[in-house]
Amino acid sequence: MLVAVWLPIAIVTALHYGTSHEYHWVHDVLRRVYYLPIVIAALRSGLLGGLVSAAVVSAAYVPHAFVLVHHFDPARSIEKAMEILLYFIVAAVAGYLSDKERSRRSQLEDALDEQRRLTGQLVRAGRLSALGEVVAGIAHEVKNPLHSLAGTAEIIDPLIPKSADEHRMWEIHKQEIGRLQKVSERFLSFAKPVPIETTTLDLGDVARRVVELVGAQARQKSIALETRISAEPILVRGDLDALAQIGLNIALNAIKAIGDEGGTILLSVSTRVVDGEPGALMCIENSGPPVPEEQIERLFDPFYSGGDSTGLGLSISSRIAEQHGGTIEAKNTGMGVRFTLYLALNS
Ligand SMILES: Nc1ncnc2c1ncn2[C@@H]1O[C@H](COP(=O)(O)OP(=O)(O)O)[C@@H](O)[C@H]1O
Ligand SMILES: [Mg+2]
Repeated sequence: MLVAVWLPIAIVTALHYGTSHEYHWVHDVLRRVYYLPIVIAALRSGLLGGLVSAAVVSAAYVPHAFVLVHHFDPARSIEKAMEILLYFIVAAVAGYLSDKERSRRSQLEDALDEQRRLTGQLVRAGRLSALGEVVAGIAHEVKNPLHSLAGTAEIIDPLIPKSADEHRMWEIHKQEIGRLQKVSERFLSFAKPVPIETTTLDLGDVARRVVELVGAQARQKSIALETRISAEPILVRGDLDALAQIGLNIALNAIKAIGDEGGTILLSVSTRVVDGEPGALMCIENSGPPVPEEQIERLFDPFYSGGDSTGLGLSISSRIAEQHGGTIEAKNTGMGVRFTLYLALNS
């Protein structure tokens, strides 16, 4: 603005005052050169910027046009007055058009963002349901024979004396059956999500529950667990256990991401207007390495894991959020990673 608007205005004004009134044509040209910075100001800063620059130009020009005898613009008064009026008209029209253009562009950008988000969600939902069916099928097939194995193991158990050499092997056998049962349970619960029971609850309570659940583990790894939860309740419709599950999954990932060096996790609950609707937010933010940008959407894919774990935590979380009519978003903050759960505010 300084180089494109204020400096040219100052230069033109100086030339105006410095040029003798014998050079009629120079004054005519200079008066019109003022339009340039006015239009630039209007294009850059909209209606307000245009009008302010027109006012500055007028204030600079009026003494020269009508008042100061020694530095007088020799043109006719009516011409000069019209010129000043035109400064304002040009500023207003250019400013108005640029404001309109700008608001249209931001609307388009918003619409594009929304479309991108919806497409992502759709792709994710499609992948989720297809995988869900396969996983449910396998888990189901595995579960029944496992049930028989566990049942027969119980019958055989007393027949193997504790003193026998084979008893240790037998223990391993039983343990592994138990482990397989747990895994297939988890896969089944991924495929068939548990129905939620919604009540009106304080999202702050959800965050406090998460802090309770991971507090000990964070301390053990010298992670500072900070919270920013308002005492004023932030009410949403939802299932406390299910929402705490989301927070727990994200917080446990955060602890894992921070590693053994220590760091911070910030848990905050707040409200914000999202797309014109009042929304409630739970943010869980951790210091630590960023997620490569191209992988950030994949975090929510079932079985996507950066390590050797099952990779179901975030996909289950995003499904619970969907059950609540909400969404989860992951973002690199520059200092670490932030997950945000958006829900509708219930007021
Ligand atoms: N806060 C985080 N910082 C860095 N990477 C993360 C974070 N949260 C999740 N991830 C990545 O997303 C992957 C998927 O997470 P999740 O769905 O919970 O599955 P899992 O924890 O079983 O691997 C993790 O393996 C990890 O690579
Ligand atoms: Mg996880």
